[in-house]
Amino acid sequence: MNTTPVENRGRWGSNLGFILAAAGSAIGLGNIWGFPYKASQSGGAAFVLVYVLCVALLGIPIMFAELSIGRASEKSPVGAFKKLAPGSFWWLVGALGVLSGFAILSFYSVIAGWALGYIFKAVGGAFAGGVTLDESGSIFGAFTANKSMMILWTAAFFLLTILVVRGGIRGGIELASKILMPVFFALLIGLALRSMTLPGASEGFWFLFNADFHKLTPKIVLDALSQAFFSLSLGMGAMITYGSYLSRGQNLPRAGVIVALADTAIALLAGLMIFPALFSQGAEPAGSVGLVFVVLPTIFDTLPAGELFAVAFYILLVIAALTSSISLLEVVVSYFVDELKWSREKSTWLLGAACFALAVPSALSPNGFLGIMNKIFFDYALAIGALFICLFVGWRWKPAAAIDELSAEGTRFPGLKFWGFLVRYFCPLVVAIIIVMQAYTALRPAAG
Ligand code: PHE
Repeated sequence: MNTTPVENRGRWGSNLGFILAAAGSAIGLGNIWGFPYKASQSGGAAFVLVYVLCVALLGIPIMFAELSIGRASEKSPVGAFKKLAPGSFWWLVGALGVLSGFAILSFYSVIAGWALGYIFKAVGGAFAGGVTLDESGSIFGAFTANKSMMILWTAAFFLLTILVVRGGIRGGIELASKILMPVFFALLIGLALRSMTLPGASEGFWFLFNADFHKLTPKIVLDALSQAFFSLSLGMGAMITYGSYLSRGQNLPRAGVIVALADTAIALLAGLMIFPALFSQGAEPAGSVGLVFVVLPTIFDTLPAGELFAVAFYILLVIAALTSSISLLEVVVSYFVDELKWSREKSTWLLGAACFALAVPSALSPNGFLGIMNKIFFDYALAIGALFICLFVGWRWKPAAAIDELSAEGTRFPGLKFWGFLVRYFCPLVVAIIIVMQAYTALRPAAG
């Protein structure tokens, strides 16, 4: 039956290459743009604490589930469920993932396009000489109101994504991750060190790490969970797909933990880059999507080597976005390659172009269409996908089979039995409760 050799789909060239690519998928706008603004909206440390718990108790177990499904089946999401549960409807979970990947990529690229545009703004000295919050707000307002430029920046970012994905697993995604991730780490560490050594920076530190439990509300728990799934690239099959290109020699659970820890550390580091700089200038960390596009520009000029800081920061943001967007496109492309036998070249260009078409309304209406897409796919689709992935592993494929895969070729990892319990009972229950609460609070916005 299996006439196409697996090698035709591509494989990672090395374990490190896989880890960098998976970490690249996880580390993205969610970490640098989303995490700080959500933390600031939710009062800082309380959110951080709940977030870390979500990663540990739900994120990592679901990461194991996805990676094991991927490697056991050696297929992208739809084919993976078909192979592990033939003749059932489980493939719909994979289809939801492909759909989510397509939809998320469309609005993700718009925000990445803003970052791309802001590199050029920063190079052109738009923030030199200092801008006030009002001025910065109008710069951003004018920037996003320029419709043709919005489309152009989005298109430019799509082109970057397409050029990487068409190169395939080893020659495209892995190569790009191996070059970009080290640059990313170096930039981030440099910027965070700069920010944390500014006078008065410690306030920013305490804002993130001094938990005030009175600020803990159910809303924070909901936000933290959505943020954790999004940030770890879970619930839509990205990790199934990346796992499907792995060989059995890789210690899967260990790789999953490394990726999750790296993602969390980078989110915290992004906070340590942004908040100390804000507090040191007495700026309000008032949370909004504009935190990195509106508030941050007001402090660049006050920092030593501020212009360099600005340029480096937006380059960092684009790199983070690119290593994530390629994984989003890869999920969609791999479905067409695996299931419909399209060539990678054709799939990448056609699907990239189709997704760009869906991105246009988001690019033109950041507060309207983009907001709605974000709400549906960020708040619901990933959690629903994650719920079914848990149910699949816990009840259909069974934890024992998954544990066999996770410990293939004698690789060892402690606590896999406990993981089986989490994925069968704990995770689906908690995620289901959270989805219901999410819908409940959305339908009754006035209450509470
Ligand atoms: N994890 C990415 C980020 O934090 C976004 C992403 C979500 C990528 C889902 C792939 C799948 O920006």
